[in-house]
Amino acid sequence: MRETVHVALPGRAYDVKIGPGLLSESGAQIAPLLRRPRVAVISDETVAGLHLEALRAGLSTEQIEMTALSLPPGEGTKSWTHLQTCIDWLLDQQVERGDILVALGGGVIGDLAGFAASILRRGVRFVQIPTSLLAQVDSSVGGKTGINTRHGKNLVGAFHQPSLVLADTAVLGTLKPRDFLAGYGEVVKYGLLGDAAFFDWLEEQGPALAAGDKAARVEAVRRSVQMKADIVTRDETEQGERALLNLGHTFCHALEAATGYSNRLLHGEGVAIGCALAFTLSARMGLCPQEEPSRVRAHLQDMGMKVDLRDIAGDLPDADGLMTLMGQDKKVVDGHLRFILARGIGQAFVTGEVDKADVLAVLNEALAQR
Ligand code: GLY
Repeated sequence: MRETVHVALPGRAYDVKIGPGLLSESGAQIAPLLRRPRVAVISDETVAGLHLEALRAGLSTEQIEMTALSLPPGEGTKSWTHLQTCIDWLLDQQVERGDILVALGGGVIGDLAGFAASILRRGVRFVQIPTSLLAQVDSSVGGKTGINTRHGKNLVGAFHQPSLVLADTAVLGTLKPRDFLAGYGEVVKYGLLGDAAFFDWLEEQGPALAAGDKAARVEAVRRSVQMKADIVTRDETEQGERALLNLGHTFCHALEAATGYSNRLLHGEGVAIGCALAFTLSARMGLCPQEEPSRVRAHLQDMGMKVDLRDIAGDLPDADGLMTLMGQDKKVVDGHLRFILARGIGQAFVTGEVDKADVLAVLNEALAQR
């Protein structure tokens, strides 16, 4: 069970390898990229406890030495402070321009280590070994790297493509069900944004996939990564089409800010709720059939996921407050919000033509159900 998706960016093309057991093959996979048999690994304490020794064993089959830094887990690590820790450590380890840095972890570690790689000695190569479902289907592919600042998430960063991505689907078995399902929010997003047949497949296979079906997991990651690779190849720096990957994210970012980026709402949970709201808004604006938002919600519900604002515990701001938080979104251009809306499942598009009154009505309706 091995799949490869090729990201065909001219001059910086790379493969995303997908399947169970890739950690133990990491030596054979990474060796062809190395100028000397040595890698520097950045991870977090939780992931390192679970997978660092498996990575060490995998690398040792090719006599590759490994030195590792483990950072605290959590979004707070995507910070200036930890970026400095990474850079100082990499320089202490005498990582050279021709060496490879390995990011072993979820989205936080991938984004932080990727950004460190982009600025260390004006850019060194790096390999992503994503260990969360979210990182395997989204953040490890496409080269977006960066950190958060007090002004918001991902506001400082660089496009820096990895040289290889190893998505070992067996490690998904170590995720807590809530984290797995949050990552599944990003998988559903791909079906909703551009592939109705994939959404049909997820409606059928989703429960088996969540229960641990290995082949279904590989297939879900492969199809998600293929779609992302295709979009990134056409629009690496998000001049247009790549923005579709932000379906659900305008609502999501407001909800994450409203819940203080805390455990009350994981990013992927916010994406799922945001996708449902984007379909409600699309239906309200007469862009897509009225049944589509219900179909989206029915699938999220079947999967035991958060579906609506009423599924978020604790207080939320009112609709105006949420609107203000949406105004902080990176997709604001000349003060105008841009939304990803849909003409149906699998048919998303970007638009700046959204009446604020429609957004407020959708939010008020959702808040009233709480
Ligand atoms: N996660 C959205 C993107 O990579 O463009």
